[in-house]
Amino acid sequence: MGRSYLTVRALVLIVTLLVIIEYFSLMQSAENADKKAPIVFRILEDGDREGRYSRHVLQALDSSLYSYSPKQHSLVTDRVTLVTRPGNGASVTNTSGQCPLIPPSLHGRFPVQVTDIPEMDAMASMFPQLQPGGRWSPPDCKARHKVAIIVPYRDREPHLRAFLLNIHTFLQKQQIEYGVYIVEQDGNQPFNRAMLMNVGAAEAVKQHPDYQCYIFHDVDLLPEDDRNLYTCPIQPRHMSVSIDSFLYRLPYDDIFGGVSAMTVDQFKAVNGFSNLFWGWGGEDDDMANRLRLKKLFISRYPANIARYKMLKHGKEKANPERFKYLYSGAKRVGRDGLNSLKYTKVDFVLKKLYTWILVDLPHLKP
Ligand code: BGC
Repeated sequence: MGRSYLTVRALVLIVTLLVIIEYFSLMQSAENADKKAPIVFRILEDGDREGRYSRHVLQALDSSLYSYSPKQHSLVTDRVTLVTRPGNGASVTNTSGQCPLIPPSLHGRFPVQVTDIPEMDAMASMFPQLQPGGRWSPPDCKARHKVAIIVPYRDREPHLRAFLLNIHTFLQKQQIEYGVYIVEQDGNQPFNRAMLMNVGAAEAVKQHPDYQCYIFHDVDLLPEDDRNLYTCPIQPRHMSVSIDSFLYRLPYDDIFGGVSAMTVDQFKAVNGFSNLFWGWGGEDDDMANRLRLKKLFISRYPANIARYKMLKHGKEKANPERFKYLYSGAKRVGRDGLNSLKYTKVDFVLKKLYTWILVDLPHLKP
């Protein structure tokens, strides 16, 4: 009896040790990825977008952003290298007053601020350059990207303050034109993240039809590296590649949740998100299916750049119906999404730090 008890204890100890070793080796390999320099972005030509690359690629940069020279060369800044192929040379010559392709004040990894977050009013005075509704554009040059940051939200005020403090500081270093849209679900129904993002997208372009893309952003995710550019993607871009609470590992290939970027046209092409996912899970997987159906693919920045810290929160109740709607998703793309979206706007305020949209969401028929 005593011996078998000791054996069991020894086994438990060994298993615990193995788990700890695995944990540290995962952390170590994530850290090691950072030491590999320099970061490489590939410029894809038009033909490349269909087929020559697999469904997942590192970030694609639009070759039309560059002027062409016959020789192959690379552009090196202190942190980022752009690699181009022969006949697709890049130059940053700028005659139009546009902001530089690579913002000059990037630092790479920076400490995310999660403590001592000021109250909203105090925070508002920290960002005097913001236009009403949490909008901003670079004062000294013309932004290359006009981006609506859409945040589905309910009942997480401390997270919202941490998000706003970090995101405004972060985005202003990137020299993009942006607005922050907090889309809050009224009432006590299960949370419908996807429908809130549809509402945010519709309302943002209603306000400012010149937005070129959306970044759909969970309020509890804070970017840790300012090279993670919140620009408009050529192909839909999954941004939250490595999250601390997932040990900085991508949980699975097709994941499209957390933070993701799509152009206005890509979003229209897939008819936005499904409106039928009430409660946690599945809506982002359904979007990944929509992208595949419309022959779009998911692009990503390297994992050592696209890093996020997740703020702590309780576990939400998973939606038991998510698999049913996932399996039947392909049939509904044409009729369940932006074109079937209905909501009641309960309130709409251009606050100092963000545009606040409070909505009541109806249950729509499948
Ligand atoms: C859910 C997704 C979620 C992912 C990561 C999946 O099982 O369906 O909605 O983003 O897990 O948490």
